[in-house]
Amino acid sequence: MTTLARRLAFAFALAAPLATAPAQAQTEITVQHALPANSHTGVGAYTFKEAFERLTNGRYRVIAQRQDNEREMVESAQIGTIDCTFTSTGPVGNFVPEVRLFDVPFLFRDAAHARGVLDSEVGQQVLARFPARGLVGVVWLENGFRNMTNSRREINTPADLRGLKIRTMENQVHMRAFQTLGALPTPMAFSELIPALQQGTVDGQENPISVIVANNIFQVQRYFTMTRHVYSPQVMICNPQTVARLSQADRALFYQAAQEAQRANRARVTADDEAGVAELRRRGMTVITEVDTAAFQAALAPAFAEWERTLDAATLRRIRDWQ
Ligand code: PAF
Repeated sequence: MTTLARRLAFAFALAAPLATAPAQAQTEITVQHALPANSHTGVGAYTFKEAFERLTNGRYRVIAQRQDNEREMVESAQIGTIDCTFTSTGPVGNFVPEVRLFDVPFLFRDAAHARGVLDSEVGQQVLARFPARGLVGVVWLENGFRNMTNSRREINTPADLRGLKIRTMENQVHMRAFQTLGALPTPMAFSELIPALQQGTVDGQENPISVIVANNIFQVQRYFTMTRHVYSPQVMICNPQTVARLSQADRALFYQAAQEAQRANRARVTADDEAGVAELRRRGMTVITEVDTAAFQAALAPAFAEWERTLDAATLRRIRDWQ
């Protein structure tokens, strides 16, 4: 190629994107979330949408969709049929095993403890494990602390759980916990939960107040016990190509929008937790708020010993000691 031809080729390469791109080109990003738009999860996804579209002056259009099978959402983000998902960590340990650390019961004292750890280098180190599994972990959000509901009896002590069929997420750590407490853990996708409760395939389930209220679970369950037995993080996960395609400047805006989503989601979980108990009583549930959590922790001793061996014991200790 002559020098002139090389210069022309170079100039054409620079000019081509400008010449072909329409003035108002919009890139679409599809984001899926598991719960109704007017829930803490929907608030996270829609805040991200509004923030990223605003920050990029409309160069991007975010399409938020509801899909209530979290495992399928993560698979879709991995293979790239969607760009991102807001999901609980329920199924995520099956893709990125290091996430299981955060699924251990009674690990976090309260929301400030959980948020502090997830936003620290401990949370960042776990997000850094996602790319090796063909995913990008963008930011930690939350579902909040999980509580038990069932249709059979009041749960006051671990012994009350004995023999109850409890739907859990498809999560090894949670299943092991319920088995150790004497229940019969029955893992299933959230999309199958309400029919399973209606038909009596399972007696109960466990979820944060925000989820119980947003999905009218009080219509199919009589007893609620505020066990707060495990903190349930949520994480925004994206397809690596989606993130790689963003310019450096747009990627900064993408992360800024994700942080706005985190703030809105956490504020909503706090508000739902504050209003939730009264709401569940108003909806006719028998609500137990005085729970001897030490008894549940003692009953879980064999499982705790197992997690010390199978998970990262040093990080578990670091999280417990967190001030
Ligand atoms: O129970 C679950 O599967 C999850 O907590 C839910 C409701 C999908 C929210 O992430």
